[in-house]
This record gives sequence, C-alpha cells and structure tokens, in this order.
Amino acid sequence: MRFKLLIAIPMFDEVVERLRQHFDVDTCDEPLRGDELRRRLQGCAGLLVAGSPTVDAALLDACPGLRAVCSMAVGFNNIDVPACTARGVLVSNAPGVLTETTADFGFALMMATARRIAESEHFLRAGRWTEWRYDLFAGADVHGATLGVLGMGRIGQAIARRGALGFGMPVIYHNRSRLDAATEQQLGARWVDKATLLREADHLVIVVPYGPESHHLVGAAELALMKPTATLTNVARGGVVDDAALAQALRERRIAAAGLDVFEGEPTVHPGLLEVPNVVLTPHIASASLPTRRAMAYLAADNLLAAFGIGPQAGRPPTALNPEVLSPRA
Ligand code: 8YV
Repeated sequence: MRFKLLIAIPMFDEVVERLRQHFDVDTCDEPLRGDELRRRLQGCAGLLVAGSPTVDAALLDACPGLRAVCSMAVGFNNIDVPACTARGVLVSNAPGVLTETTADFGFALMMATARRIAESEHFLRAGRWTEWRYDLFAGADVHGATLGVLGMGRIGQAIARRGALGFGMPVIYHNRSRLDAATEQQLGARWVDKATLLREADHLVIVVPYGPESHHLVGAAELALMKPTATLTNVARGGVVDDAALAQALRERRIAAAGLDVFEGEPTVHPGLLEVPNVVLTPHIASASLPTRRAMAYLAADNLLAAFGIGPQAGRPPTALNPEVLSPRA
C-alpha cells in the first residue's frame, strides 16, 4: 500500500523524485498554510514542512490519517510536539546540517550591521557618493569588540568560534545551562548573567530557540541596558525580540543598529522596522546555501522514509523528536 504524502513547501526535484519512489506525493509552488494546508492534507499520512506553518491539535484533529510530520528546519516551535505524540504522530526536525551555514550568516549579518553595508549600498545606488565625508557610514569595528551570544547551542557556539578565533573578539554568552569548562576554554567564551551580557556586548547575536520562556526575551527593558553604540542581530526566531520595542530603540538611536533575519509574525514585518535606516533586514535566509538546504531536505526525507518503515533506517528516523511513538507499546 502506498501512503499519501504532502510536501507543503517548494522542494528540490530530486527529493520529490526520491519520495515518489515510495509515496503518492502532492507538491506545491508556494508554502501552504492555514485552511489551504488543512484542505490539501486530507487523506495524507505524511507531511514535509519547514519552520512554518503551524501544526497544532486542531490541524491534527482535522487530518486523522496523519502519521508523520517531518520538518527540514531545526527550530520546531511551529509544531505542537506533545499534541502529535498524544495522537501517535511522529515529528522530526533537521538539526546539525545547518549549523555552520547559519553561523556564517549570523556572523555576516552582524558584520553588515556593524559596518552599515545595506545603508551604504542604498546610498551608492541613489547616486549620492559625491557627498563623501570622513565619517560617511563610519560604523563600529568588529575585530577586537566584545561579542555577546544569547543562547549557546550548536549555532551559538559556531558563531562564538568565528568571533574568538577569526576576529580576536572577547566572547561573553548567556545560556540557561553553562558550557563545560573545556568547551568554554576552546571557544574563548565566558558565561555571564543576562544583564551583564546586555550591558557589556558591543555586538549581541541572538540564537535561542523560541518558546513561551523566550518570548520577548529582549524587550524595552533589555534594550535599555545595551550600549548606545551596540548592535543587535537576531537569527533565532521572531518573537524572541519585541520588534515594536526594537523599532523604537533604533528610531531613538538607543542602540546603534540591528540585523534581523527573523520577525514576529513573518512574513509580515513590523512597519517601524521598515522605516528606520539603521537595520539590515533579510527574509529568514540564514540556512540558505544550496548545499545546506539540500542536506536539510534530504534529512527530512530520510526521516519520512524511516517513519514509514522504508530504507536502512526503517523504524528509526534519524532526528525524531518523539521516537517513542514508533516503539511497540509495553
Ligand atoms: C529554515 C530555520 O530556513 O532551521 C530553522 O529553524 O529557521 C531555517 O533554517 C526555515 O525554517 C524555513 O522556513
């Protein structure tokens, strides 16, 4: 028997073909969400998604045939894992394969923010180069400045390593759990409390997962602790930063600049952020190198195949978040 599978995001042809060898596959040209997703998911046993859309109890109840939800994102705050587990639906994410690519981008966005690359490009395109002054787009140095990392998982560590080893940056970090001393030493990173991180960082990079405990982890009160010369870069998730408070802080120059790849309610962007010049905005592309996106998609496909008992990892999806749903009941 062939199960029906919905790939709810545009997908590499080769991955679609791979899955078509085993499933009846439905594809799309644009990411599916909401009512359209629910409609297209009817009768499907498998779903392949990314960091959106929302997969919650209501969607699961409307699609009782669903057995596996496999995401090609590492963040899975869009999926209600307990609701899936309660209904015997396997969930997987895609950790590891995107760590270095995302760290490259986080570092690049921080540098673009500190050195005002987007603002200066707009200026050049507008034909204004003749207005040169000694302080034209004079930004903040990156080398030797204090790098503050909020969230010290795999991606945070990869960013810290770039700063410490490549740019001679003293690195401070805050995370709920502290790294062991050997890892701290290897990364050249020092744990500090959150207030100290905010006060001392010249460049703050945010890399924490989103959840109720990290909602608006950086809001008006936290922004008020930062140096007026500091930059803030968010490559984690929209909602970790209070975008309205950030837009106001940028407008009032209470911090120098921000680099944002993620937004509350994306793809909508807070209008206040679109109005200020001192912010670099990118459309959630931190993991977007072709080799990495391909690896993420293959990992999601591997999980799907394994969830349905196909292939070398049959019954053991490599990055399952709730593998217990596949275990025979005791
Ligand atoms: C994805 C991400 O590109 O992996 C994640 O958690 O945020 C990104 O790598 C994103 O989920 C695509 O929607």
